[in-house]
Amino acid sequence: MATLIVTRDARIFVDPSAALAPVRYGLPPHRLELDALEDSIHRVESELKDADIVVVTHYHYDHHDPGFKIPAERYSSKLVLVKDPLRNINVSQRIRASRFLRVLRAAGARVQVADGQKVRVGRTEVTFSVPIPHGNTTKLGYVLMLRVEEGGDSVGYSSDVEGPLDGRVVDFLCGSRITIVDGPPTYLVGRAYTREDVDRAVDNLARLSRCVEVLVVDHHLMRDLNYPALFVRVSELSGRQPISAAELLGRQPSLLEARRRELYGVLEEE
Ligand SMILES: [Fe+2]
Ligand SMILES: [Fe+2]
Repeated sequence: MATLIVTRDARIFVDPSAALAPVRYGLPPHRLELDALEDSIHRVESELKDADIVVVTHYHYDHHDPGFKIPAERYSSKLVLVKDPLRNINVSQRIRASRFLRVLRAAGARVQVADGQKVRVGRTEVTFSVPIPHGNTTKLGYVLMLRVEEGGDSVGYSSDVEGPLDGRVVDFLCGSRITIVDGPPTYLVGRAYTREDVDRAVDNLARLSRCVEVLVVDHHLMRDLNYPALFVRVSELSGRQPISAAELLGRQPSLLEARRRELYGVLEEE
């Protein structure tokens, strides 16, 4: 979900990190995934150098890196707008937040809590949502959404809403020209996610696709090889076709984690 938003006033880097699923289908990451991660971290680090503002929407390692892979000095003198580390947060994220903020401050970053705030840089306006649950339960904590607006153009970013399931996500992101949304974790249906959750996500995505120009649906949804079926459901309801983040960049999606068994040459069904 690491996303660089460039306006005439600022380079805004949202969630500059990347991570792999430690276990999928009972298997650790494949060599190709480790190579892809290294490449992603390299690109994140090089864009971070020139960013003016960094946003951290929540404290999962695919959204923030407390100096593990990216040197903390990269944050020096930058404005870092973060999810409140103390309120509306679960225990594991509270622990990670405290470590991350310590690292940021030691590196000389200017840290500001962003929940529900509006930040202006020149004519660019960054608007943050109130905390929204990370999926269908608050056990995983909360995330911040944001909208970046400048000169009549706008980008919306949902962070890890896993769906979306909450109608507030649609209300908040409606009207952005490009909207980047975390789709439903359909690979978890029957475990931590239900068919009803998927139905609700499809309805919300269809509503959203009618009120934005470009709807990008990615992240949790891209852990499922069958993701195009969900795109078909959304476009049947709304008459508008969502795209993946890769397609926004003119590339083809590469679902390495979802293909992990195949990469290892293991063929049995999950
Ligand atoms: Fe997350
Ligand atoms: Fe995530």
